[in-house]
Order: sequence, then C-alpha cells, then structure tokens
Amino acid sequence: MEQLNEYQGKATMEKITSLAKRRGFVYQSSEIYGGQNGAWDYGPLGIELKNRLAQAWWKEMTQLHDDIVGLDAAILMHPRTWEASGHVENFTDPLVDCKKCKSRFRADQIPEENIKGKKCPDCDGELTEVRKFNLMFKTQIGAAEDTANLIYLRPETAQGIYVNYKNVIQSNRMKVPFGIAQIGKAFRNEIVTRNFIFRTCEFEQMEMQFFVKPGTDEEWYNKWKQHRWTYYEKLGLKMDHFRWRQHGSDEMAHYAKEAWDIEYLFPMGWRELEGIHNRTDYDLTRHSEYSGKDMQYIEQESNERYVPYIVETSAGLTRNVLMTLCDAYDEEKVADKGNDDDWRTVMRFHPTIAPVTVAVLPLMKKDGLAELAEDIRKELKEDFATDYDQSGAIGRRYRRQDEAGTPFCVTVDYESKDDNTVTLRYRDSMEQIRVPRAGLSERLRKEIKEYKRCK
Ligand code: GAP
Repeated sequence: MEQLNEYQGKATMEKITSLAKRRGFVYQSSEIYGGQNGAWDYGPLGIELKNRLAQAWWKEMTQLHDDIVGLDAAILMHPRTWEASGHVENFTDPLVDCKKCKSRFRADQIPEENIKGKKCPDCDGELTEVRKFNLMFKTQIGAAEDTANLIYLRPETAQGIYVNYKNVIQSNRMKVPFGIAQIGKAFRNEIVTRNFIFRTCEFEQMEMQFFVKPGTDEEWYNKWKQHRWTYYEKLGLKMDHFRWRQHGSDEMAHYAKEAWDIEYLFPMGWRELEGIHNRTDYDLTRHSEYSGKDMQYIEQESNERYVPYIVETSAGLTRNVLMTLCDAYDEEKVADKGNDDDWRTVMRFHPTIAPVTVAVLPLMKKDGLAELAEDIRKELKEDFATDYDQSGAIGRRYRRQDEAGTPFCVTVDYESKDDNTVTLRYRDSMEQIRVPRAGLSERLRKEIKEYKRCK
C-alpha cells in the first residue's frame, strides 16, 4: 500500500493521459465527434514508442531464438475457427444493465449485494438479470446481409498461428519444439473500457505459441515464464513494479491447464500485463475435429505421432505502451526559485525504446550554428531516431526533450565552429560534457549499450 501511495504521488492516470495528448503520444479516437469509446489513436511520439516496443519484442522472440519464426495472419478468419476455438460458446462476460440510468456493468466487477438486490451501484435503480455477453465483434462479409456471411473480428491473434502450424512446419522444415510469433490487432467488445489505453475494444497483441511434445510442456512452461520476466528486466523497467500472479481454477480461460500473469503496478493498482498459458493440445485437437484435418505432428526419427501441446506467451502491445509511459514518468525538483521552472517532467525511457534517441539543438539560429547543427543531424539520422529544435531558450528546449523522453541532446555552440566539439547532454542526470563531433555515432551507440537507469 505504501508503495502504491508513493507511486501515485508521481504518475497518476490523469497526468499520463494529459501528457500523452499534449506531447502527441495518444489521442482520443474521433475526438472532434466527441470521441469513440474503447478506441485510441497513436500520435507521432506514440507510434514511435509502440513500434520500438514491437521491435524489441520481435527481436527478443525471433532473432534471439533460432527455434521461433514469425507470421502475420489475417484478422478475418473462417467463422468455424471461432467455433473450434471455443470462443463462440465461452468467450463471454457476465453483464447487467441498469433499467433507470442505462449504465452497463460487468456482474463480476460490482459488489455481490448489488447483484443479489438487483440494485444499480450508481443510481440505486433496478438491475436486469445477469446474462452472458459474447465479447466478439460480428460483422458480415460480402454484399448480402444474411447470417451465411457472418464473420468475426479476431479476439486474439493466437488462432491465426494454430491454423497455420502445419504450413509453417512444411514450408520452413520446423521441428517440434518450435515457436511461431505474431504481432497484430485484436478486437473485443469490452463492457467496461476505462483507464485510458489499458482496456480497449481495439488493441494489439504480441503473442508467441510454442509447440512441444506432450509431457515436456511443464518444463517448457517454466522456461518461458523465466524468459518473459528477463525480457522486462532487459528493458530497464522498475522491476519492483512487476510481480507474478497465478490464475485460480475458477478464472482460467477455457483452454488453459495452467496460467500465470505478469502483473504491473499501474497508478490504479496491480493489473495484468501479459499472460503465460499452458493451452495443452486443446486448440489443435479442436481444429482437427472442426476442420477434419489431421493436426498430428510426426517425429522424423521415431515416426511417433502426437498433437503438440502449446505454451503461449501473450502480451498486450498497447498495454505495454501504457506500462512504459507509467514506468518512465517522473517529476523531479531541479531548482529552488519558487516557480514552475523548479520542476521538470521527465520520461525515463530506456534509449532502445525512446521515441527519439537524440535531439540536435543549435544554441542560436544565426552565425552558421543552425547549418552546422542540421549537418550533424543529417549524419546521425542514418543510425538513430533524431529530432531538431532551434526555437526558444535552450533550457526550455531541454525540458521539451525531457518530456518526450529523449535520452541524449547534442548542442551546437560557437565553440563547435572553432574546435569541432559539441555538448552532449544526458536526460537522466542533466550532466553536460564536451565531446568531439567526430565519432559521435559510436559514442551514442556505446552509451545506449551501457545505459543504466538511475531512478
Ligand atoms: N491468446 C491469449 C489471450 O488473448 P488474454 O489474457 O485474454 O489472453 C492477453 O490477453 C493480453 O492481451 C493481456 O495480458 C493484455 O495485455 C492484452 N489485452 C487483452 N484484452 C485487452 C484489451 N481489451 N485491451 C488492451 N489489451 C488487452
């Protein structure tokens, strides 16, 4: 509790939402029409952060694992997919409506006495009976609006991997154990969307399905749990804001034999960031039943046949964006003049995920400093995400970069013209050192590699 209070004093959801809009990380969808519930747009800094997080995950899960390959399956899948996967029958939330104020609630998220007494927690009006509400979005494909053309927007990316698992084995000569990774959009008609981009109707997932021989699943499950924890450690995040939580048998998804969440301490408390599931042979067996296709794997050496078990790691990409925004957010007292300038807001992103890696700032626009700075930026552009800012006092420009989370600033001044040196300014410590212009890229690469978060 103490930890939560201390944290809330720094990053609150209001501050994160406001900074996100002000600096172009995330905007409300269709804002000019009053906004669209459950949908958000990623602005210039937000898309860079999201892309960087996706790249970090992709590198970790494919490039660093010889036994994992990638896939990009279509969002629209044959409707039988969702019957086989169990989503048509089981992917539901319990729902109640208030007859008076028309508010809608998830029955498992309001006090039990309200459900028993059928009393609205907002206005005391009468609640409807609890009913099952399927979270999948339905639409139709083709011109005729009849049920024959019913199609779903996928509620998870996983099924695109399962239906392709044999294709991947054949085309890429993969041998069990192996994995398939995918990043893509998923859609859920969430009853309650709240807390900014935490729970939305349209979101992105980063999922990896690892196919293993039955009997080895628990060993692989534990390996993947470990790998996923190490991944977050590598991103230089506040690891005391991470913890494990095991799902009880009453809350496990219909496909899972074992499920653990990696939870993060968001400003509103501990919440799920990623799930690691042992899905057994449930999905492949069901696809075999519903499609009539043999989903068995044949081991070449022994000729043994079996339906592989699947260990799944499933993280929300957009939820990771929110996590990194909360994790990076810091307010620091930097002076004692008794005005607003005493404080700075600084986003302490790890340089590998920061939307901008280096900003180049000429001290003055005149006397050839702007041209020199632009020249340096042109050079750095090849290797890094850069920004260029020549307007306003240098102190204000540093603050703007701090808020964007830019780990390094390169400042060009009169001395630079004479001796070919520049000022390198560090976001976290605000330290400034003089370095030669030559070899700046190598220097920055080294800084990024050796980066250690100070707070
Ligand atoms: N394939 C398994 C699966 O989808 P899940 O626990 O329902 O499992 C995995 O979702 C992850 O996807 C979650 O840990 C979360 O990060 C993200 N996620 C799920 N629903 C979401 C939503 N409505 N909005 C944003 N992210 C969501």
